[in-house]
Amino acid sequence: MKELKVQPIRNGTVIDHITPGRAIKVLKILQMPRTGWTSVITAAMNVPSSKGRKDILKIEDRELDTAEVNKISLIAPNATINIVREYEVIRKDVVQLPEKVSGLVKCPNQNCVTNSEPVTSQFLVTAREPLRLRCGYCDREVADVADHIV
Ligand code: CTP
Ligand code: ZN
Repeated sequence: MKELKVQPIRNGTVIDHITPGRAIKVLKILQMPRTGWTSVITAAMNVPSSKGRKDILKIEDRELDTAEVNKISLIAPNATINIVREYEVIRKDVVQLPEKVSGLVKCPNQNCVTNSEPVTSQFLVTAREPLRLRCGYCDREVADVADHIV
């Protein structure tokens, strides 16, 4: 039987080594697909690799920028970002967790001002492995960050 392989892309971004099961959440963080989007996106989930299972996203004809890439670190800390041009990987970056997270995470404290006023949520990264954030408005600690991405 022939092995099913995900096709290489000609140009674009390959997000590789995504924590298994998180590919859809990564797309959500990147606000993909949205109105006006024309890129071809291929998702592969639970793909076996030498280091266990992983998800992969291939976004054609678009090179993600650093800000977009760093958001991904919140839910897929081991992801690599491969920029592909004419079938070659011309750059490979590992995601970097920023020190502050602005607007991406919803504070789990119902009484937090960020849940009733039109302000952008702000969190400080207080621990990296495992990830913990602290709300800049109410000091609530958030451990299950992936469940609070907006
Ligand atoms: N890739 C792709 N299209 C290309 C080139 C690469 O879709 N034209 C994908 C590969 O399938 C892989 C990722 O981009 O999922 C990274 O490619 P490469 O660096 O060649 O693979 P590895 O060396 O295995 O990467 P790593 O060491 O990061 O696992
Ligand atoms: Zn809060």
